[in-house]
Amino acid sequence: MKKLKKLVVGNWKMNPSSLAEAKKIAGDVKRGVKNTKKTQVVLCPPFVYLYPLSGVPRTSVLLGSQNVFYEEAGSYTGEVSVSQLSQCKTSFVIIGHSERRAMGETDDQINRKVRAVTHEGMTAIVCVGEKIHDQHGDYLAIVKKQIQDALRDVSKKLLDHVVVAYEPVWAIGAQDAMPAEDVHEMALFIKKVLRDMYGILADGIRIIYGGAVNTFNAQHIIDGGYVHGFLIGRESLKAKNFVEIIKIVDLS
Ligand code: PGA
Repeated sequence: MKKLKKLVVGNWKMNPSSLAEAKKIAGDVKRGVKNTKKTQVVLCPPFVYLYPLSGVPRTSVLLGSQNVFYEEAGSYTGEVSVSQLSQCKTSFVIIGHSERRAMGETDDQINRKVRAVTHEGMTAIVCVGEKIHDQHGDYLAIVKKQIQDALRDVSKKLLDHVVVAYEPVWAIGAQDAMPAEDVHEMALFIKKVLRDMYGILADGIRIIYGGAVNTFNAQHIIDGGYVHGFLIGRESLKAKNFVEIIKIVDLS
């Protein structure tokens, strides 16, 4: 595998309930990873905490948002633009998370968001994943189409600004993660889809896994899954566990 910087992203979703807690978690993570060398860490809090946390970014801990809108400005009630995010020191954006897809976000909207984000030099964390890991392998076509749709008209020169987060929907919020061998199979498949789209340059795209990653399974998935890191929900709100997972990834 080409040597790309490893990546661990914390998706806080609509948590924690107070800014004080958000600052505490971010501070603990920042202190905990100060000796981490090879791994980029991205915290994705709710929009309203981005500005108060904008002192966090350092080389190893960066800020990301959980969504964005693709227009630059105007009458779009409730939306936030890429440039507004970048003023809060946000350099990553999670796009197309299954919880947003479930609320009606379409492949076309996801593609517009990916183009807006990469065009402005921020990194798009593009979430893909099947709802059911069926026996017939239909999930492969589903994931392939999600990738092709999300990256439509994204040029080769912007690929450094793309991360693919493979998150089987059935594993998100679940007790058990996907077995490492299956993660490996999907990572290879995604790599092939990307190579078919972009040729060898696709090897510059990091592929991370998300769905029930915790301190017990992280080592196994990173060793056997051959991914560049993780997208983590619940465990990213527990600074101690999150830091432990980051260290596992960093040392692997
Ligand atoms: P989880 O969530 O780690 O709590 O399963 C992952 C995600 O939604 O990105």
